[in-house]
Amino acid sequence: MRNLIDILDFSTKEIDELVAVAKDIIANPEKYREKCRYKKLATLFFEPSTRTRLSFEAAMMELGGNVIGFSEASSSSAAKGESVADTAMMISAYADIMAMRHPKEGAPLAAALKGTIPVINAGDGGHHHPTQTLTDLLTINIEKGRFDNLTIGLCGDLKFGRTVHSLIAAMSRYENVKFILISPEELRLPEYVKEEYLVGKEFKETTSLEEAMPELDVLYMTRIQRERFASAQEYMRLKDSYILTLDKLHDAKKDLCIMHPLPRVNEISVDVDEDSRACYFKQAKNGKYIRMALILNLLEDADNPVEEGLVDFDKVRYDLVCENPTCITSTEQEIKHMFKLTDKGVWRCVYCEVKE
Ligand code: CP
Repeated sequence: MRNLIDILDFSTKEIDELVAVAKDIIANPEKYREKCRYKKLATLFFEPSTRTRLSFEAAMMELGGNVIGFSEASSSSAAKGESVADTAMMISAYADIMAMRHPKEGAPLAAALKGTIPVINAGDGGHHHPTQTLTDLLTINIEKGRFDNLTIGLCGDLKFGRTVHSLIAAMSRYENVKFILISPEELRLPEYVKEEYLVGKEFKETTSLEEAMPELDVLYMTRIQRERFASAQEYMRLKDSYILTLDKLHDAKKDLCIMHPLPRVNEISVDVDEDSRACYFKQAKNGKYIRMALILNLLEDADNPVEEGLVDFDKVRYDLVCENPTCITSTEQEIKHMFKLTDKGVWRCVYCEVKE
């Protein structure tokens, strides 16, 4: 049995296979109409969502399956204090696969360690959002025809933007990909993302979208994540840092691919929607197809023994304490703190990846 907690849980070859299945679903939807008959997907959303939850639900329905779940923590027993681990064990008794979004980093991993059905991370705090990345990869593949030899500008809230962290992790595995990180000083990409994925890669940081524009093959705009700010004043000061308008595209390539995980607040003017380079609504639609491909993939493997390597318990340390207040270990006392040694020789919390 496999889970999708981090985009790197899937190799580039496996991602190519998912992309190929998603494209086949787009071309031949009728072939897939009964593939998940009698199967149930549980969507456990402890945080708001439009695209992720509803595209997962539409995906399962288009595969002939059924959906159960909740769209806010207050309508689940989390409101009475039930832990993520206990919730996962319960859902394993009712469904065949679950997709979880949670404000605490590492919550889907905590669920996967206890549950007995595949768990999909549908966004954990400011950490990762691997199914958005699959959506982004399908879109890049359709629009650009390749993953290699691309210059990608990521613009906006690079600190809290979990979609950015997962996309960098995924794209850093391809050849000759250059990243231009465009953000206010206060919202620069976290050091851990740079250390884990960008060492030895070509990247630069800038505050100027205009300066970066002519180089870009892909522009990935992001929302300033109001819900992750400690101070409302600081959010108000930074919220309109970047607004993409038609005139700012003057120096852009003619085949630029403009993406945004959505929702947008004010980062892309509605005038841009009519430009042939605007891909963000197509991107959201692609989310349903790649999630169909993912559900099929994980259910095919669901009866096999639990995958090794979700956490290598022989190689973790239990003597360190994670002090990240947004880590799932900060609120769920029964979760054992664990630190893993990364390829870069750094001990990081297994759940949220913060350094010792
Ligand atoms: N892109 C994305 O995660 O959108 P939702 O928050 O609406 O799910």
